[in-house]
Amino acid sequence: MKRIVVLTGAGISAESGIKTFRDSDGLWENYRVEDVATYEAWERNPDLVRDFYNQRRRELYNVQPNEGHKQLVRLESRFHVDVITQNIDDLHERAGSSNVLHLHGELKKVRSETDPFDIRELEGWELTKDMKDREGRPLRPFVVWFGEAVPNITPAIELCQQADIMIVIGTSLNVYPAAGLISYTKAGCEKYLVDPKRPNADLNGIHFIEQKAGTGVKLVVDELLSGH
Ligand code: APR
Repeated sequence: MKRIVVLTGAGISAESGIKTFRDSDGLWENYRVEDVATYEAWERNPDLVRDFYNQRRRELYNVQPNEGHKQLVRLESRFHVDVITQNIDDLHERAGSSNVLHLHGELKKVRSETDPFDIRELEGWELTKDMKDREGRPLRPFVVWFGEAVPNITPAIELCQQADIMIVIGTSLNVYPAAGLISYTKAGCEKYLVDPKRPNADLNGIHFIEQKAGTGVKLVVDELLSGH
């Protein structure tokens, strides 16, 4: 079975109603990144950071996977598909994708600050300050903040190296190490990129589909299911 690796960013969740980060009305405009998405912010103002992620988690209960997420699942009938996502939402899982690797964490999970293996699924949308780990320290969002290590980049690189086909969807390719994944594919790997705006990356040898995910992903999936 041929292997497909899919790299997604905020753009694939845009049509589900979740804001992207760098589009004109991007999420960060309401907050300065360093005020909510860094370890220093967490130490300086844990209530603000907890509230920021609580609001995004609460929003998650009101949104659904869109056609972009769903079309990817069709590929699993003929290919081995691994989804590598920069997103912390669970829309790929809810759409039915079998293999999803989160590079920047998962919004519905929280973890201990001291024990990186103490990871828990939150029952509801709210992380409160009295939710503590085994040492009595407040649990933190299971999110990779700017400047923190990206432990899943190693398995992500391996998946890209094994892929026969790569599909990049809805990412500005601004943030490393995620953005660097497109250069790890083997010679002959077919590459597709779906985005309504041309990202400022070298697109030579990449089939660029200048469409939103809801329509563009179907075009790629139809081609792959008919052609291979
Ligand atoms: N369909 C597909 N792509 C879209 C759509 C859509 N409907 N709407 C917007 N896009 C594209 C934009 O053109 C842009 O290229 O999605 C991309 C969104 O880029 P960013 O907002 O930079 O999001 P992303 O690339 O995922 O950011 C990477 O940065 O802020 C950090 O950790 C955060 O994971 C995030 C990382």
